Amino acid sequence: MKRFRSYRTDVATRERYADVRLQADDFIYPLFIVEGSDQKQLIATLPGVFRFSIDRLRDEVAGLMQLGIGKVLLFGVIGEELKNPEATAGYDPNSLVCRAVRYLKREFPPLTVFTDVCLCEYTSHGHCGLLLGETVDNDSTLPVLARIALAHARAGADFVAPSAMMDGQVEAIRAVLDAEGLSTRILAYSAKYASSFYGPFRDAAGSAPSFGDRQSYQMDYRTLHQGVEEIAADIDEGADWVMVKPAQAYLDIIQRASVAFPATPLAAYQVSGEYAMLKQAAACGIVDERRAFTESFTAIKRAGAHYIITYYAKDFIRKSL
Ligand code: PBG
Repeated sequence: MKRFRSYRTDVATRERYADVRLQADDFIYPLFIVEGSDQKQLIATLPGVFRFSIDRLRDEVAGLMQLGIGKVLLFGVIGEELKNPEATAGYDPNSLVCRAVRYLKREFPPLTVFTDVCLCEYTSHGHCGLLLGETVDNDSTLPVLARIALAHARAGADFVAPSAMMDGQVEAIRAVLDAEGLSTRILAYSAKYASSFYGPFRDAAGSAPSFGDRQSYQMDYRTLHQGVEEIAADIDEGADWVMVKPAQAYLDIIQRASVAFPATPLAAYQVSGEYAMLKQAAACGIVDERRAFTESFTAIKRAGAHYIITYYAKDFIRKSL
């Protein structure tokens, strides 16, 4: 008989045998930015998460830095009046995201700023690409994604993070960054699945598609090998970091990716629906919130992710909720 219980006798012993540890450096915190001043807007479906105007970012980001969280992922949330079918608001050099990036890099130089690069936040139809009839068109979308990424990079973003799931998006962005001699890196949302867990985000970002769904461009979760192929293609096109999204229901994909590409930093996105489900379950007394999110992050890292994008980052580092 092997005595496994000797690994578990007390706190210190369990700590010694732990293979996975979580630290502040593992986390990337999403930030929703809105126009205006003195805005800190509640998001009904994401309790504890807010939309900030640029002038209210100072306290929020200072708080993050104090907790040791030095990485943020920005999403711009603009008014319907600024949206159009071509997503031109996305690449205005003075766009909301560009202004937020400039502000953050000026006020918090050590902060690592990631920006979401997609069309859904800027198109009047809410899809992640340009339309040809009712179809999202891949190739005409690529230059638009490249222009958005270039605007963010010129504003000083450390990483641009293309999330539109258009084929060739990393290559198109890499080409414009290289042409300008910019050292901005690319975090590719490589294996991004058409998921029911994005609901609260679309509410937070005002980016729900006005018709149809995203299944013609986001991945079908019934596929087994395609996730690894998507990641391989992005690395080949010049991605510096890659991502699997969502996280909890895709631990197998995270594991496959970490084994297949051990040299490439891998992020996993614990998406809005995952966060909201844990929040609701905790509010109903079904789980202890801290234990539940800690278990979830540990599983994500154990599967092989190096970085976790999560709305829980602050709660995890803070000792109390
Ligand atoms: C697209 C984008 C989405 C999310 C991040 N980037 C929405 C989508 O693809 O529908 C979802 C993140 C979350 O649910 O927390 N720009």
